[in-house]
Amino acid sequence: MDKILVLDFGSQYSHLICRRIREFSVYAELVPFDIPIEKLKAMNPKGVIFSGGPSSVYNKDSPRPDSKVFEMNLPLLGICYGHQLIVDNFGGKVKRSNKEYGHSTLTIDNNASLLGGVGDSLRAWMSHGDEAEKIPDNFKIIGHTERSHAAAIANESQSIYGIQFHPEVVHTENGVKILKNFVLNICKAKQEWTMEGFIEKTVSDISKIDGNVLCGVSGGIDSTVAALLIHRAIGNRLKCVFVDNGLLRLEEEHEIEKMFKDNFAVNFTPINAKKRFVDGLQGITDPEKKRKIVGEEFVRIFTEFAEKNGPFRWLAQGTLYPDVIESGVSKGPAAVIKTHHNVGGLPDWLRLEVLEPLRELYKDEVRKVAAILGVPKKLLMRHPFPGPGLAVRIIGEITEKKLHICKLASKIVEEELEISGWYDKVWQAYAAVGDDKAVGVVGDERKYGNIVMIRVVESIDAMTADWTRLPHEILAKISNRITNEIDEVTWVSYVISSKPPATIEPQ
Ligand code: XMP
Repeated sequence: MDKILVLDFGSQYSHLICRRIREFSVYAELVPFDIPIEKLKAMNPKGVIFSGGPSSVYNKDSPRPDSKVFEMNLPLLGICYGHQLIVDNFGGKVKRSNKEYGHSTLTIDNNASLLGGVGDSLRAWMSHGDEAEKIPDNFKIIGHTERSHAAAIANESQSIYGIQFHPEVVHTENGVKILKNFVLNICKAKQEWTMEGFIEKTVSDISKIDGNVLCGVSGGIDSTVAALLIHRAIGNRLKCVFVDNGLLRLEEEHEIEKMFKDNFAVNFTPINAKKRFVDGLQGITDPEKKRKIVGEEFVRIFTEFAEKNGPFRWLAQGTLYPDVIESGVSKGPAAVIKTHHNVGGLPDWLRLEVLEPLRELYKDEVRKVAAILGVPKKLLMRHPFPGPGLAVRIIGEITEKKLHICKLASKIVEEELEISGWYDKVWQAYAAVGDDKAVGVVGDERKYGNIVMIRVVESIDAMTADWTRLPHEILAKISNRITNEIDEVTWVSYVISSKPPATIEPQ
């Protein structure tokens, strides 16, 4: 498959370059800037993009790619720091300048090739403190801003381009058009990256493995899709285990079991371990201790299952591409299969190899794969849920009473958001509960009941989040239903802290 390689020089936007390119069906991959040249050549890219980054090319220790990458006769596009790298490499001069941050108007001086079809000017997103003072011989300026006279440059005969702005961010007008010009017209990459193609190749790769696969499924989209792909490839040599830890959303354990049984023919074993988890968490108030106890109990249950139902050779995980990049794990020779031992805290003697069919995909791509594989829409749109479940939404000790309040109140929040059309617009929406109480009056009687906290947030990647400005009438209805339908609750509060400084979950 045709591919574009993006060399990562450390910009917070590097990832986005790949995403934007994949969105128009060309496979793009982020690789470290210092990838060995033999490895880069072996990947056979149709073109290379240098990302932005925080360094200055005139610093001695600035990150540099192998210089042979400039001599491969491949189309090159430098963005921001990458642009300066191209200027510097081909004999131009980069100097410190006044910072240009945010929107600038890019005036197009030559709209052939890279800047074709974008009009006479565009709003471009800038974020730089260095600029090209003198451009190299054989290059020409194709765009400028008020502050950067060489904001876009080209050496057409060698297909080498540099742009000071970021076409990958949505704030740049026609940014995708510029990336398309480079990838489709200049690199001539074919649009071969489709989720149907991904499924076909992944299933074919996995069908070549020997041995049985163990997959823990949570009911979430990633583990479900991983399981379905593996099942397509090896059928009942895959065994899925679903652990009900008693910390799930209301009725979720039944919904997950039903979804698997009604929709998929996979070998599925539900394990009711509610009591084990709740007993293990008794008297524990510290959030990190709760997480540890939940994690360890999962491992014990998994291990017991493997002992009884093995042997297993593989452990399947729903790892996604951003996790792979963030953890700095380099790719093995086969795209979907990485082999190493003792991952995920499982005991050493299990010696399972890890199968990660989704390690090339972004979340939105997983959703597309899920839709093709027939995953019900309800699951596709379900909000993310933390691994330790309600253990992190119940502040203080976990008791049956607080679990009951938390589950019912969260259900009401979800229902009201669905009715009002807000559910799909927000990242997460739930109720949390602690030990704080407030006085209420019911009928003629005074009642001392629990305080419930409603949390509804918007986010793109959970790294930052803003609290949702829900209309007051929806909040009023939620509050009214919670105090009426859950006897133990007298007060309902709405959390208006964003992340940072707060986090999405209370614990
Ligand atoms: P925070 O609370 O850190 O959460 O803003 C960010 C996102 O991660 C989820 N989350 C977890 N997921 N195990 C998980 O699998 C955890 O321990 C955990 N803690 C938080 C949270 O729901 C949010 O989407």
